[in-house]
Amino acid sequence: MAFTKLCTLDDVWEGEMESFQVDGHEVVVACLEGGDLKAYQGICPHQDIPLIEGKFDGKTLICRAHQWVFDACTGKGINPGDCQLASYPIRIEGDQVFIDTDDVKPLFAHT
Ligand code: FES
Repeated sequence: MAFTKLCTLDDVWEGEMESFQVDGHEVVVACLEGGDLKAYQGICPHQDIPLIEGKFDGKTLICRAHQWVFDACTGKGINPGDCQLASYPIRIEGDQVFIDTDDVKPLFAHT
């Protein structure tokens, strides 16, 4: 495992999401209601649309293009249910946020 610095806790506020590029990976980081941070592939599994352009309400992430909905806690597709966002392991040290990009590949679904 090789953790790389992603951002600081101040960069992503509760109920908001931000996008970052790390080690050639497009990553979207969501700060859930309650303050948990999650890091997922930044590109929608459907087509080549950045998820940061969609909506996040603290619980679900919605792609702007065709309104696919994802559970922001697990990355699992809600509608449709047969898709999934690849998730990056996160480590927090002080106010620094690190992710491990090793072995994480974006997932793509049916069209
Ligand atoms: S590209 Fe995201 S729902 Fe179609």
